[in-house]
Amino acid sequence: MATAHVVFATITGNNEDIADIITEKLEQLGVDVTESEISQTDADSFEDVDICVVCPYTYDEGELPEEGMDFYDDLDDVDLSGKVYGVAGSGDTFYGDDFCVAVDAFGKKLKAAGATQGADNVKINLEPEDDDIETLDAFAQKLVDQAK
Ligand SMILES: Cc1cc2nc3c(=O)[nH]c(=O)nc-3n(C[C@H](O)[C@H](O)[C@H](O)COP(=O)(O)O)c2cc1C
Repeated sequence: MATAHVVFATITGNNEDIADIITEKLEQLGVDVTESEISQTDADSFEDVDICVVCPYTYDEGELPEEGMDFYDDLDDVDLSGKVYGVAGSGDTFYGDDFCVAVDAFGKKLKAAGATQGADNVKINLEPEDDDIETLDAFAQKLVDQAK
């Protein structure tokens, strides 16, 4: 059975909702999933699974989640070769060029750690709605297909 770890950062709950949707879909696909909040998670826990997922919010005009900086920095010291990764997060299109930049930042970091991108980055405006849920389900399906 494939294994996955879904890590989220949230202030108002949108990214936790996104993580819940991805976790539920992965479980439906037969994956053994761990879901956790970023400040409670060690970056090296990604070394124990096949599929690594991050769901980050973006703050203060292009900033990463403050409570996720240890996790982000510690990704420099993990080896994720052979793993598949995906990043899906919520931001607010009001912020223009800074919309969901944390999603791209985590994607680059996971790639630099040696993981293979299993699905395109997903950027959601505020809370996930019905069409976003479809996008997230397809995202989870692609990650599983790539991990095979
Ligand atoms: C002070 C402040 C700054 C923000 N800056 C950005 C930003 O630069 N880019 C962006 O996409 N969203 C920005 N947002 C919007 C949040 O990322 C968005 O509300 C997101 O859904 C919050 O996720 P959460 O519910 O998981 O906390 C900002 C929100 C606040 C309150």
